[in-house]
Amino acid sequence: MPNYRIAPSILSADFARLGEEVRNVVAAGADIIHFDVMDNHYVPNLTVGPLVCQAIRPHVEVPIDVHLMVKPVDRIIPDFAKAGANIITFHPEASEHIDRSLQLIRDQGCKAGLVFNPATPLHYLDHVMDKLDIILLMSVNPGFGGQSFIPHTLKKIAAVRRMIDESGRNIMLEVDGGIKTENIAEAARAGADTFVAGSAIFGKPDYKGVIDAMRKELASV
Ligand code: DX5
Ligand code: ZN
Repeated sequence: MPNYRIAPSILSADFARLGEEVRNVVAAGADIIHFDVMDNHYVPNLTVGPLVCQAIRPHVEVPIDVHLMVKPVDRIIPDFAKAGANIITFHPEASEHIDRSLQLIRDQGCKAGLVFNPATPLHYLDHVMDKLDIILLMSVNPGFGGQSFIPHTLKKIAAVRRMIDESGRNIMLEVDGGIKTENIAEAARAGADTFVAGSAIFGKPDYKGVIDAMRKELASV
């Protein structure tokens, strides 16, 4: 069985109590904190930046996974590294120089990854597999929490799983958007190993109840 990881997205957390929220969700069994950065330019919403990443950093020891939905990306990457990010991913359409941006992330000591929107073609992977620690597939269009999982993503997950296996490299395959207890096993069967869930976890009162139920589903894969 792959090493499955559950990554709650703070987008659906209570921002007035963010430190407590991330502590609680890690105590409930979260493996990673997923940190959604939106700029009201690349996506039609505005969220949080490096200051907030730095503010939550002392509250948890698990990796912080910064999902950049911003354009351009290079200026802000070192700021997130300094703010304690462990993983930084960006959308290839948002960088003029994908290879350089990936290298910049690794040079800052972080794991690097590319994010694919539902309609973004996978050819961006062709020449950078050796520079990737993680590939993130969006199963909704980015910008908002609480949207429905787009079923076509399952085929894309399977295609990327084949590419990773053929490469022989240790690359995480993360899926983001509309993941719930009801569909997490399906995403795992398609080949994902890391699961972002915002509203499914932070939208419920019992974080541990949801995460335990998700793990039970994953154990059945
Ligand atoms: C969407 C974000 C997601 C979002 C997921 O643009 O990248 O991480 O928080 O939220 P849910 O799990 O509610 O779809
Ligand atoms: Zn995200």
